[in-house]
Amino acid sequence: MQALIAAPDTAEGHRLAEVPEPVPTPGQLLVEVRQSSVNFGEARFRAGMPAGTVLGYDAAGYVVRAAEDGSGPAVGDRVVAFGPGTWAERAVFDVDSVARIPDGLDLAATAALPMVGLTALRTLRGAGPLLGRRVLVTGASGGVGRLAVQLARLGGATVVASVGSPARGEGLRDLGAAEVVVGLDDVREPVDVVVETVGGDHLTRAWSLLKPGGICQSIGWASGAAAVFAPNSTFALGEPRRLQSFGDTSRPGADLATLLAFVAAGDISLPVGWRDSWKRVDDAIEALLGRRVAGKAVLDID
Ligand SMILES: NC(=O)c1ccc[n+]([C@@H]2O[C@H](COP(=O)([O-])OP(=O)(O)OC[C@H]3O[C@@H](n4cnc5c(N)ncnc54)[C@H](OP(=O)(O)O)[C@@H]3O)[C@@H](O)[C@H]2O)c1
Repeated sequence: MQALIAAPDTAEGHRLAEVPEPVPTPGQLLVEVRQSSVNFGEARFRAGMPAGTVLGYDAAGYVVRAAEDGSGPAVGDRVVAFGPGTWAERAVFDVDSVARIPDGLDLAATAALPMVGLTALRTLRGAGPLLGRRVLVTGASGGVGRLAVQLARLGGATVVASVGSPARGEGLRDLGAAEVVVGLDDVREPVDVVVETVGGDHLTRAWSLLKPGGICQSIGWASGAAAVFAPNSTFALGEPRRLQSFGDTSRPGADLATLLAFVAAGDISLPVGWRDSWKRVDDAIEALLGRRVAGKAVLDID
């Protein structure tokens, strides 16, 4: 089958190649991938992967072989899935890494969901109850950001969305942001929760905006810049503030089903900001890293 694989020796860092068919274990199913999407990590770090690694983590498609042990979706079911090796015509997934796509939902758009949806859902859930809380989302124009804005609002929070320019803030109020700010200098009121995806000065500034008892979920470093905390800036009397890492993508199937149910109910929308053939993956990566995609870039595996 055809797949996009890591090729550290090329200028692009990847190439389309013929690779062996993936073989499911008894607890796995085989999916014909119709759409995948580009995540920041694949865009930025693919050349650092071992040569030949099939890239990609998000998939939407059809089950072509059900799990041998009888669990999970059946042949022909439409599924969204999370796991390695999705920039490919076919991919295998553990049964608890997939969710059936509800009738009526556009299969292609759901490929935008897995990585960014799981990350936004799990970091917000890990921050505790959101009802009446003030939540700051940095990098709100991006994939994780757009999901975090919507899910925080759905959870009852007042959402402050931080972006890099006014143009990048377009549409975020419609997704549920109460305030859209460029950078963090205009955030006047402290916040209970930060969903932080940019790193560098955004992390230190966001930390300084936390209320006592607040939590900063440090998800990513899209800026690639170092964060320098001023002396004593992590010292405070009273209820402690927390800075927490995130990287838990284990057993994602149930949370994918939850996210799909929100989409089906019209509670959140899927952030597809670019869509084209996987043969144009270079353009997708360039647009994403150039901060020109409003959300996710979806690849048609055609
Ligand atoms: N821990 C995990 O498990 C996990 C999971 C998913 C993602 N991540 C990480 O989270 C981060 C965001 O992922 P994503 O999928 O949302 O990426 P994305 O769609 O590319 O969005 C990133 C956003 O960050 C902002 N940004 C990019 N470069 C910047 C710079 N130099 N200075 C300031 N802001 C910049 C951009 O906003 P503006 O254009 O508005 O400035 C952009 O919209 C990445 O670092 C990714 O690796 C981690």
